[in-house]
Amino acid sequence: MVYNRAMKMMADTEHAISLIRKSSRIVALSGAGISTEAGIPDFRGPGGMWENEDLLRQLSASGFERSPAGFYRASVELFSTISRAEPTLAHRLLVHLEKIGKLDAVITQNIDGLHTAAGSTKVFEVHGTFRTGHCTKCGAPFDMAEFYSDIESGRLTVPVCLNCRAIIKPDVVLFEDPLPYQAWRGAVEAAENCDLMLVLGSSLVVYPAAELPMIAVHCGAPLVIVNLEATPYDRQATVAIHARLGEFAKAALAAFS
Ligand code: APR
Repeated sequence: MVYNRAMKMMADTEHAISLIRKSSRIVALSGAGISTEAGIPDFRGPGGMWENEDLLRQLSASGFERSPAGFYRASVELFSTISRAEPTLAHRLLVHLEKIGKLDAVITQNIDGLHTAAGSTKVFEVHGTFRTGHCTKCGAPFDMAEFYSDIESGRLTVPVCLNCRAIIKPDVVLFEDPLPYQAWRGAVEAAENCDLMLVLGSSLVVYPAAELPMIAVHCGAPLVIVNLEATPYDRQATVAIHARLGEFAKAALAAFS
């Protein structure tokens, strides 16, 4: 049984690689699963962040409204994990595919900034980023790293604007928040014009991001999904591979190096 599973995974990986070989306008849609091998927990995988119901409530838009101090207390550990994380082999695979002229854009649901850190140049962060924030009153932009290190050391509870003293909010899209318009519009356009949609490490259960693979399919692109667990779109995929992204990225990098 195990032997057949391994044989199927190898055949599916070869199939995915043959689709990548034929493509020159690939769009990747990444989720938290692309960063777990960098030490950043995902949300719905085994041991994922949303197993902690309290955290889910605090890290929402209403949670931020209710208690900014509670939001920052609940997010400081995640922020420090993110700031120490390095891009994974799968992030580097996407940079390489861009360099050899096969990849058009990365759409990410992640807020860790690892695609840009790896060297991807066209990244649509449809759920925003933890790296920057804005004043909730005058809109002044801020880098969040210093604030979070002061919160981690206990010197600060809630960052306030240096100009107008109002509370600063990180540029992350929380539950109940609207998506950043420019990033979303760019993501839809990329999905509509790609010749291969590559989903890496997402459960594909959060909308509207989960609609993007089907936009690509409806526009005629094949769909490849690489995810440890089954997703609701596996049946629509040309290839759905249930494997660790580190293994897939290693095989794909070997094929295109
Ligand atoms: N290799 C392959 N797949 C992996 C790996 C790995 N190393 N590690 C985890 N996964 C898979 C998990 O099995 C899971 O199915 O990645 C998927 C991650 O799914 P989620 O945790 O739901 O993350 P994501 O799909 O990005 O969630 C979307 O939900 O809570 C919101 O805003 C949050 O952006 C997030 C959105």
